[in-house]
Amino acid sequence: MKPDLLQRRERALGPAYRLFYDQPVHLVRGEGAWLFDAAGKRYLDCYNNVASVGHCHPHVVGALSRQAATLNTHTRYLHENVIAYAERLSATLPDELSVCMFVCTGTEANDLAVRIARAVTGNDGILVTEDAYHGNSTTVYQMSTEEYPAAERPGWLEAVEAPCSYRGRFRDPGPASALEFAGLLGPAIERLADRGHRPAMFLTDNIYSSNGVLTPAPEYLAEAYRRVRAAGGLAVADEVQSGLCRLGDHYWGFQDAGVVPDIVTMGKPLGDGHPLAAVVTTPAIAERFARKHHYFNTFGGNPVSAAVGLAVLDVIEREDLLKNVHDTGAGLADGLRGLMARHALIGDVRGKGLFYGVEIVRDRETREPAADQAARVREHLRENGVLLGTSGPGNNVIKIRPPLVFNREHAALLLEALDLALGSL
Ligand SMILES: Cc1ncc(COP(=O)(O)O)c(C=O)c1O
Repeated sequence: MKPDLLQRRERALGPAYRLFYDQPVHLVRGEGAWLFDAAGKRYLDCYNNVASVGHCHPHVVGALSRQAATLNTHTRYLHENVIAYAERLSATLPDELSVCMFVCTGTEANDLAVRIARAVTGNDGILVTEDAYHGNSTTVYQMSTEEYPAAERPGWLEAVEAPCSYRGRFRDPGPASALEFAGLLGPAIERLADRGHRPAMFLTDNIYSSNGVLTPAPEYLAEAYRRVRAAGGLAVADEVQSGLCRLGDHYWGFQDAGVVPDIVTMGKPLGDGHPLAAVVTTPAIAERFARKHHYFNTFGGNPVSAAVGLAVLDVIEREDLLKNVHDTGAGLADGLRGLMARHALIGDVRGKGLFYGVEIVRDRETREPAADQAARVREHLRENGVLLGTSGPGNNVIKIRPPLVFNREHAALLLEALDLALGSL
């Protein structure tokens, strides 16, 4: 790293930004599941879901460059790309979800979902889970219970405990506790009513990434959706983390629960690093929204972004990435559970496909979070050329979420390095 880069960064970007790692990593190049720093050191990327089909995939870069060299405008002119992309993206979803509206970030997608839900239901209340992150606009940041101060929550917002059967109030991982967690929506809807609000929507990140990765039984979403709809609200799936094959059985996380949301929001992985995000809904909801509002987003759905989105879908199909996620993920899950048998520090392993949370605890009985140990594991791995993160309310969950091209050899390298890091504590 150039010695003055940190100081220049601080001056130029200000103090609100954060860097990963005690010794920040200065990356200059990426290829597939690998990243390279300025000194030429190679890192296995076990963290970045944005580079979904691998860093700088040649098919995506080629599509981007060709379209950028031809034309870039916006959705107020006719263009084949955006229509073809909307058609192909909705073909990955249940039939009802066939209308796409394009934005540039997950935040914008969730913000638009709020506007749509409020316009269509006539209600303004929003239900989310505790410790969630949904984005950074004024409204969506207030809904990001992980970061927004609980004491300053607006009256239209209610949060329910996330369905964590390891730390939560219901501790059996089966359907009974999933139903009990979903039942918490009842009192939350009543609390909204006490303040004069009815629910417009219930929003969940379907892998609960900021809760330290949760995979509740399918009954959770089914019952939660039933309850919010009965109260006049829409069911909204935030698939920014759990979407685009990440969980290994379907393209979208909510499909694991066998439910169909009214609105799906998506972002990060759609553009393999290019800012491309979307809201997908039903024709009936889109039509009711359009009665009250026009929609335009200067950069959302431009021909270059759409070319990128199409190229990402090509790669997923050609390289059979859903199957890769499923198969590599199964091996990785086994390997992580094997590590749990060897290291008492691991209290729990959760997740599926290529998204795992490895919970680090001081004591398996008390489940006391060990954030400092988790941080030491993260730093040890970085030294050994493996990048991953820590997350969760106690910041003690090792977060593993590599590009979808992560294969068995990559998984073996990760498991070996993780074993070494845990053994070093
Ligand atoms: C579940 C979830 N939703 C929404 C967002 C916001 O996406 P963006 O950072 O693209 O605005 C994030 C970002 O981390 C997220 O994890």
